[in-house]
Amino acid sequence: MQAVILAGGFGTRLRPLTLNRPKPITPLCAIPFLRYQLALLRAHGVHDVILSVSHLPEAIRAVMGDGASEGVRLRYVVEREPLGTAGGFRNAAGLVDGRVVVLNGDILTDIDLSAMLRFHIARGARATICLTRVEDPTVYGVVELEEDGRVRRFLEKPSPNQVTTDTVNAGTYLLDAELLELIPSGTVYSMERQFFPDLLTRRVPFYGWVSDAYWLDIGTAQKYRQASRALLSREVRLPVTPPGTIGPAGWVGDRVVIAESAKLLPPVVIGEDCRIGERAHVGPFTVLGAGTSVGADAVVVETICWEGVSLSEGTHLIGSLLGQGCRIGEHAWLGPVVLGDGAVIPPYSRA
Ligand code: GDD
Ligand code: MG
Repeated sequence: MQAVILAGGFGTRLRPLTLNRPKPITPLCAIPFLRYQLALLRAHGVHDVILSVSHLPEAIRAVMGDGASEGVRLRYVVEREPLGTAGGFRNAAGLVDGRVVVLNGDILTDIDLSAMLRFHIARGARATICLTRVEDPTVYGVVELEEDGRVRRFLEKPSPNQVTTDTVNAGTYLLDAELLELIPSGTVYSMERQFFPDLLTRRVPFYGWVSDAYWLDIGTAQKYRQASRALLSREVRLPVTPPGTIGPAGWVGDRVVIAESAKLLPPVVIGEDCRIGERAHVGPFTVLGAGTSVGADAVVVETICWEGVSLSEGTHLIGSLLGQGCRIGEHAWLGPVVLGDGAVIPPYSRA
């Protein structure tokens, strides 16, 4: 079976982090996000993957390459202008046939794709969407099912008074490649607002399969933090590990230098080439990207730093999210801020 990953969105809700780095390769526990999805696919025997990209395609290609290091074959289809979720799938038409798994490129999940496939085959479905239960369905696609699992209604981003169920589209589909004919080429077309409702009108065998596996859309800063936490606490189980070796506090990369009086409080991920100064406290739930330095007496709690961040002496970070190369001046205290790449915070700041 082949897979298409829809990875062409702008990641607007994750700005400023996605200004220079598209959402599909934002690091989670120091690993580009797509690697988690590839691990899930691989675990279910899917090794032929097409990435449907549009925003910053070269950045994605530079990180993911041809997939050889991930044990998959990775090919790319690139839209000059984003064509929407169905348009992005349509763009892969020349490369897929038979049954295809389609994934939204921002879903962290360990759903049982093999069980979903068994359901799909048993029902004689031509389209099956995975559903998950959420507290607030209004930011998702709400899906009502018939008793036998057929989709009765698909309503994208309903207003609160239109919500009739808590089962929403989990952004994971099994689709017959022949259904691609229903998607016009070269125009913006939506999976959720056009393609799925069209399947219902045409009475195509279209089913929903409810999963209770871990599931999260990483599309906002709050969700991104939640995803990091879930991985650190091993709530989500995927066969991917950060670079380096596991120790009592978490994963520590190569060439990391930790002062003797510094403390790591588990769980943490410390990327390669990080330096941690005297009496610094790092963790719990902290991720330091490669080449990050933590000054003496700094406190870094529930914080995510991308690569090459510099935290000066005496900084206190609690719940912060820092893009690549941020520089935090000495004794600055930051709470749950989100700083874009290269932000410079003067000493003694409070935010
Ligand atoms: N190739 C391509 N082209 N990909 C796109 C485009 C496009 O024009 N637009 C969005 N994508 C990709 C995004 O990169 C993302 O991985 C995925 O499609 C979904 O887009 P989002 O922008 O994240 O959508 P959403 O989160 O608001 O809603 C979608 O996901 C929910 C589950 O998280 C919908 O599918 C909802 O129905 C669903 O519940
Ligand atoms: Mg999303």
